[in-house]
Amino acid sequence: MNESNGTFNNINNSELTSENMIKVIFSYMGRIAYTRDLDELLLLMADMGRLMVVSDRCTLWLVDDESGQLWTRVAHGIGRQTIAIDSGFVGHTIKHNQHLLIEDAYKDSRFNPSIDEQTGYRTKAVLCIPIENAEGKVIGAYQAINKKTPEGKFSLKDVAYMTLVASYSGKALESAQLVYEIEQTQKEIIYVMGEIGESRSQETGNHVKRVAEYSKLLAIKIGLGDNEAELIKMASPMHDIGKVGIPDSILKKQGKLTNEEFSIMKTHAEVGYNLLKSSRRRIIQAASIVSHQHHERWDGNGYPQGLKGEQIHIYARITAIADVFDALISSRCYKLPWDLNRIIELFQMEKGKQFDPLLVDTLLQNIEEILIIKNTYADISKKDED
Ligand code: C2E
Ligand code: SIN
Ligand code: SIN
Ligand code: FE
Ligand code: FE
Repeated sequence: MNESNGTFNNINNSELTSENMIKVIFSYMGRIAYTRDLDELLLLMADMGRLMVVSDRCTLWLVDDESGQLWTRVAHGIGRQTIAIDSGFVGHTIKHNQHLLIEDAYKDSRFNPSIDEQTGYRTKAVLCIPIENAEGKVIGAYQAINKKTPEGKFSLKDVAYMTLVASYSGKALESAQLVYEIEQTQKEIIYVMGEIGESRSQETGNHVKRVAEYSKLLAIKIGLGDNEAELIKMASPMHDIGKVGIPDSILKKQGKLTNEEFSIMKTHAEVGYNLLKSSRRRIIQAASIVSHQHHERWDGNGYPQGLKGEQIHIYARITAIADVFDALISSRCYKLPWDLNRIIELFQMEKGKQFDPLLVDTLLQNIEEILIIKNTYADISKKDED
């Protein structure tokens, strides 16, 4: 066994000595205790389990009460993998709150070979351990696959180790799930706030999600870090929150606005800023700047302040281009969607006038990825849903 960067690498494929077992436990428990990120936690726990029982693979499956499925994270950045709650050994373990010790999966009728069929992997020995929360409710299961020692099968000792780890994991998982739950709720509230701003009752409000995704993409492509890109993604959907103050007779007018109506419409930037500016939360602070400045123009002819060039906050410059792209490619109560060539022409023409020239280049160079976002979050009109 060797050790590097705090991770262990069992090169001999032998059972851990008790000394190494303690090393693994201490190294992982420390990291697990300080991780509040659910993805990270699942990966750490799976890794720890894999080392402790010397298995080739180890997965931690969680029950999703809403969908009635089991899910896991295979790797960071890759989406959830899901299976039916009653599927295979894991499903059996969860349903009966009982561990399973299998020597050869293919000789057992409970085995669900569909994942093997998709991946070409050959499952043989399997160990499944239920994970309970503090109230004794089963919230998931550990699944270790293929013992790497020469014997090739899991033992009762492995069951004992994993049961211990599972009982510890349950608590950490529950609090991480709670944090995750709160974060998801926050994100939903952000989109709902944005949709209220847009007040486009005839659409599903995917406009704000698209603006969020385009903005994040542009932020990454111009070299902002992941954290800042994520902050822009959270703040940009609120750019039009100030439209809550605009009467429907103007907001939903079918045709062109009169000058007077447009001057009322323009107040939405200031209104949004005033709604959000007093918050000390980082996301809301960013949103207040975006609300205020998303109709400023690079050449200084925008509103409400007439800021110019880099006086306009980069978050607002990004949101501005994302917002206009989406306004043009979508239908509005006052306009039909434009075709892509016309949109590209407009951005080329407005480069350095309405928009930051660097951001125009970035948008046009990444137009395929932008269109993928557009199609992923397509609008479904309420009529189609009913
Ligand atoms: P919005 O619909 O979200 O549009 C955001 C921005 O996209 C607009 O900011 C403008 O920069 C750009 N945009 C949208 N449609 C067009 C277009 O047909 N041609 C060009 N060149 N740019 C377009 P803007 O102009 O400051 O407008 C702010 C908001 O005012 C719009 O938000 C919309 O809610 C409202 N609005 C603007 N013009 C009209 C109109 O003629 N009729 C109605 N009913 N509302 C309008
Ligand atoms: C099973 O436990 O049989 C299905 C899940 C898997 O093979 O990973
Ligand atoms: C604002 O005036 O909207 C905020 C100032 C800024 O950071 O750009
Ligand atoms: Fe706006
Ligand atoms: Fe908008």
